[in-house]
Amino acid sequence: MSASYEVHGNVAVITLNNPPVNGLGFETRKGVTDGIERANADAGVQAIVITGAGKAFSGGADIREFGKPAALAAPNLGDVIRTVEQSDKPVVAAIHTVCMGGGLELSLGCHYRVTAPGAQIALPEVKLGLLPGAGGTQRLPRVLGLETAMNIIVSGEPVKSELLASLPGQKLFDKVIEGNLLEGAIAFAKEVADKRPLPKVRDLKVSHPNPEAYVQFVRNTVGAMSKNFPAPLKCVETVAASLTKKFDDGITFERELFVNLMLTPESKALRHAFFGERAASKIPDVPEDTPVRKIEKVAVIGAGTMGGGISMNFLNAGIPVTILEMKQEALDRGIATIRKNYEGQVKKGKLKQDKYEQRMSLLSTTLQYGDLKDADLIIEAVFEELGVKESVFKALDEVAKPGAILASNTSTLDVNKIASFTKRPQDVVGMHFFSPANVMKLLEVVRGEKTAKDVLATVMQLGKKIKKTAVVSGVCDGFIGNRMIEQYSRQAGFLLEEGCTPEQVDKAVEKFGFAMGPFRMGDLAGNDIGWAIRKRRYQEKPNMRYSKTADLLCEMGRYGQKTQAGWYDYQAGKRDAIPSAAVVEMIEKHRKDLGITPRKISDEEIVQRLVFSLVNEGAKILDEGIASKASDIDMVYLTGYGFPLWRGGPMCYADQVGLWNVLQTMKRFQKNPHDDASFWEPAPLLKKLVEEGRSLT
Ligand code: NAI
Repeated sequence: MSASYEVHGNVAVITLNNPPVNGLGFETRKGVTDGIERANADAGVQAIVITGAGKAFSGGADIREFGKPAALAAPNLGDVIRTVEQSDKPVVAAIHTVCMGGGLELSLGCHYRVTAPGAQIALPEVKLGLLPGAGGTQRLPRVLGLETAMNIIVSGEPVKSELLASLPGQKLFDKVIEGNLLEGAIAFAKEVADKRPLPKVRDLKVSHPNPEAYVQFVRNTVGAMSKNFPAPLKCVETVAASLTKKFDDGITFERELFVNLMLTPESKALRHAFFGERAASKIPDVPEDTPVRKIEKVAVIGAGTMGGGISMNFLNAGIPVTILEMKQEALDRGIATIRKNYEGQVKKGKLKQDKYEQRMSLLSTTLQYGDLKDADLIIEAVFEELGVKESVFKALDEVAKPGAILASNTSTLDVNKIASFTKRPQDVVGMHFFSPANVMKLLEVVRGEKTAKDVLATVMQLGKKIKKTAVVSGVCDGFIGNRMIEQYSRQAGFLLEEGCTPEQVDKAVEKFGFAMGPFRMGDLAGNDIGWAIRKRRYQEKPNMRYSKTADLLCEMGRYGQKTQAGWYDYQAGKRDAIPSAAVVEMIEKHRKDLGITPRKISDEEIVQRLVFSLVNEGAKILDEGIASKASDIDMVYLTGYGFPLWRGGPMCYADQVGLWNVLQTMKRFQKNPHDDASFWEPAPLLKKLVEEGRSLT
């Protein structure tokens, strides 16, 4: 039973009980309607309280039911709210901790609402590309006024109950109850038991001194801020309808817009990302109850770009970190960078001075491996050379305590080989952070052949603790993200050879929605990094064709922003990319050397070639089991590579375009004499899915 029923004196108490957040699944919904009917039929009951067990009033819809028939089974949430509202006996919502989405809508159907202070109140549907679909857009403005309701619904952000209760004229809460909420709610229910008529939110009127001007102002601002997302503007329209439409018409309008949004590709993408995030932490052969190892002390080897950022993640989470380097100067430089980073946050008001000091006090440094003997997790972030990694892992094997997890932040090297440098390969795992490591959400967890299941479970849990999106990848060159980006970069190079400028390519993919095009990205990361990787990679794969333009660029000393010259020119201290005549000249000369007559390439072709190169490699990665599900690949691209969120990631996007269409386009590209025909050989999985009429996600 997902809602319990008890009678306290003459007050019936219905307690939502569907852990973890009392989601309004079928059983819970039915529990509420049954409870209301039972209370109304019981002559001994004069009032009803609805509350939630455990750590929530209700978090809203039960996401486990999404897309399943149970989600729609009667009574649906609208039916439940109607039953509550039409109860002959007063119903009091006793709100605490979390009251969101459908939970808040349910409480708005109650005749009264009392709340504990500190409850998080929100209608977060907009974050899934939707709007509140069970009356929230019509009832919330009636209790909070147009402007406050608009802010809550359009932003989806939670607001504390005591703050809302303190607003002048608010009718959301009838009382804030300090102390025992249930006792307070029952006492309140007794007080109002005989009052008639029963107050109903639907009977209230919404007013505003200057509604048209206000709504137009909101339309303009929200429209400008939510360019690629239709839901926020639809939220504005439905909330505005609470002013002009009768309640029932407003509800019909809300339903109509809700259903329309549900079908938009943007909402599908946002929901895909929402579930993808949750699914990423589930590893098919690692049960959820796998015991985890305790991580109370972390060590990081290398205080360079990555080591510093990685350390900050743990300091932020209150976990002590020891950094080891080869020389004191390197340590000093690394620590200074960490300090500078934190001080920047303090200056911007994002971090309190005492928090900063507290974090720094958790940080220690050493030049001696012996000092790492107590560490539960050691993350290596030294130079990307197998020989250096070998010496580090051999040293770690000597000193690390039994059961310590030994992780490498390598972005391209073979984690199995790294594990073999130790006598404990089961304890070795890849933890591939992205730069800047204290900011970027993605953490690729690289599972070696011998990595123990509890090591994986521990690292995935730790990922959550340091607020990362952790995605498991098998071992291959580049893992999920960089292996795919290699193909994307190769295509970007071919596009230059065939007639594009770096600017044209960047603009086309930025218009598609990428945070940054491949060339601006290269300039930011440093073109020399890719250069070094190519030197190794294409020695190993001599038949893999790629454009030499990027090598020629590096030979010109144009490493990117750090040398104030890369694919673009840069002015000192500025990040604006200025097209470079020297680069265009280099590309043109190279084209001539190859005997290519340039042609005009459309933005559409640019986007298709770059994005479908990700899709094809992604399909191979999935087929090989490097990624265990398509949504994992999408999470990597959404959180680590600036893929537009409203398109859901490359695999979700390919499904939306239609795999048949993707395949046809790839076949067309195969005929291009200047492209690499083998490049566009469709991944077997893509062909199979098209034949079977199936999709990737
Ligand atoms: P970096 O050159 O900024 O830092 C490396 C640090 O390691 C230097 O401070 C160096 O003194 C230290 N070091 C070298 N050998 C050592 C040893 N034997 N013992 C102790 N310390 C040693 O390099 P970065 O960029 O931080 O890269 C480190 C690792 O992270 C590499 O494996 C790289 O592939 C990987 N990585 C880099 C990313 C990036 O964007 N920079 C992104 C993701 C991974």
